[in-house]
Amino acid sequence: MEVVEAIYTRQSTRLFKQNPIPVESLKQLIEAAVRAPTASNAQNWMFGIVTDPIKLKSLRSLSPGLIGHPAAMILFCIRTGTNPQTGEPQIPEYTWMGIGSALQNCLIMAHSIGLGTRPIGSYHKKGVAIYLNLPENFLPVLIVAVGESLDEPRKPRSINIDKVTFWEEWGES
Ligand SMILES: Cc1cc2nc3c(=O)[nH]c(=O)nc-3n(C[C@H](O)[C@H](O)[C@H](O)COP(=O)(O)O)c2cc1C
Repeated sequence: MEVVEAIYTRQSTRLFKQNPIPVESLKQLIEAAVRAPTASNAQNWMFGIVTDPIKLKSLRSLSPGLIGHPAAMILFCIRTGTNPQTGEPQIPEYTWMGIGSALQNCLIMAHSIGLGTRPIGSYHKKGVAIYLNLPENFLPVLIVAVGESLDEPRKPRSINIDKVTFWEEWGES
């Protein structure tokens, strides 16, 4: 799938098929995520892949925002503290932008290889961190539910970019 088509047709999945996802496909998602830009090339992230049915069940129970039964979940985490590449303090906003960029790469890659995804922000972060034995300097940010989608593709969205754009200076559209 062309990247343009992937960007225009990606949608968050509601209904997942139950079949397992090949390990290679899951690795492709992380390979895409880690190619995102980060401030000072900090790459201050960690991705926890969960496929074990018992663990998935526990994570589902900790995730009220999750719809459906994904075959895998990926926990996106931020490494707090200093930039691991330079030892310099990190600007939190930039760290968050980096993980957001990684998220989008992951979602687009998933869609382009035929996998459905849904980002889940509504989950018990502390509970998940404890359950997955996360070290204290890693902050759980988001869960990405992954699986083959049973959803119908939706109609392409029509969004008027003039409402969210200004040219040259504020007020000029
Ligand atoms: C940071 C973030 C958190 C989200 N949290 C949830 C969530 O807890 N539960 C959920 O069903 N969807 C969640 N979503 C998915 C959004 O609801 C979805 O992306 C949005 O409605 C737009 O739909 P689309 O992804 O199909 O374009 C989240 C998305 C983002 C980016």
